[in-house]
Amino acid sequence: MSNQRLKGKVALITGAASGIGEATARLFAEHGALVVVVDVQDELGHQVVASIGQERATYAHCDVRDEKQVEEAVAFTLNKYGSLDVLFSNAGVLGPLNGILELDLTSFDNILAVNVRGVAATIKHAARAMVARKIRGSIICTASVAATVGGSGPHAYTTAKHAVLGLVRSTCSELGAYGIRVNCVSPFGVATPMVCDGFNMEPNVVEANGAAISNLKGIVLKATHIAEAALFLASDESVYISGHNLVVDGGFTIIARSYSHDQIQ
Ligand SMILES: NC(=O)c1ccc[n+]([C@@H]2O[C@H](COP(=O)([O-])OP(=O)(O)OC[C@H]3O[C@@H](n4cnc5c(N)ncnc54)[C@H](O)[C@@H]3O)[C@@H](O)[C@H]2O)c1
Repeated sequence: MSNQRLKGKVALITGAASGIGEATARLFAEHGALVVVVDVQDELGHQVVASIGQERATYAHCDVRDEKQVEEAVAFTLNKYGSLDVLFSNAGVLGPLNGILELDLTSFDNILAVNVRGVAATIKHAARAMVARKIRGSIICTASVAATVGGSGPHAYTTAKHAVLGLVRSTCSELGAYGIRVNCVSPFGVATPMVCDGFNMEPNVVEANGAAISNLKGIVLKATHIAEAALFLASDESVYISGHNLVVDGGFTIIARSYSHDQIQ
């Protein structure tokens, strides 16, 4: 397989200063893409760009809750690199772990503003750029196992990720006419700052907890595994795949856990 699977492509990645977005920015650049690292964590974002190399990556500050900033990040990408072939709309927050009885609705609104409204804004402005320039682009969003099953994240987060899946399917139905593909990746637990800070746990504890409830044993899910899935959806290897939810969960979401194989053997 070519090691330059995104040669000549320009990618904008939100939430790229950390975790899954950062791993994807590195992998996309390794595969020949020019990458715009978008985030609100400016210092980290600049560090990611410095480590990738200024000739292949640039940082743009953008809070995805603010449509104007999203529009400016897309315009910045077009000015800097002359195209926008791939959008990885990945920025997201977990939010507080309160149950429904203690739900804080202000916080609920904020989770949806980042995880849903932000994704809608990025799809809107990236798609406008692609349509205007007749670019057969690839749009990839980060959903979650929480887009498919309940009980794997807080309520606002689960609600938001179900909505991301809806947005992917809905925009896929419109943008296919322009040759633009829209897909999502849905990770199982990865020990990124979002999860470690959210649960106040060290990465090794998050990974041990994940391993305990995982279906696929003997491997720990890392941000690079999600980046590989995003790379596939960004590249021409997935040229006829649109509207797809690429679940990266080792089978977690399709396995019933009401009884174990040990008990029925
Ligand atoms: N880590 C997991 O277990 C897991 C599982 C399923 C889905 N996800 C999703 O993966 C995506 C990436 O999360 P991660 O785990 O890498 O966490 P992370 O905290 O390492 O990265 C998220 C990034 O998004 C940025 N961000 C947050 N709000 C923003 C905003 N308003 N505008 C712009 N950027 C903003 C943060 O600054 C951060 O750099 C999220 O959408 C998350 O919901 C993560």
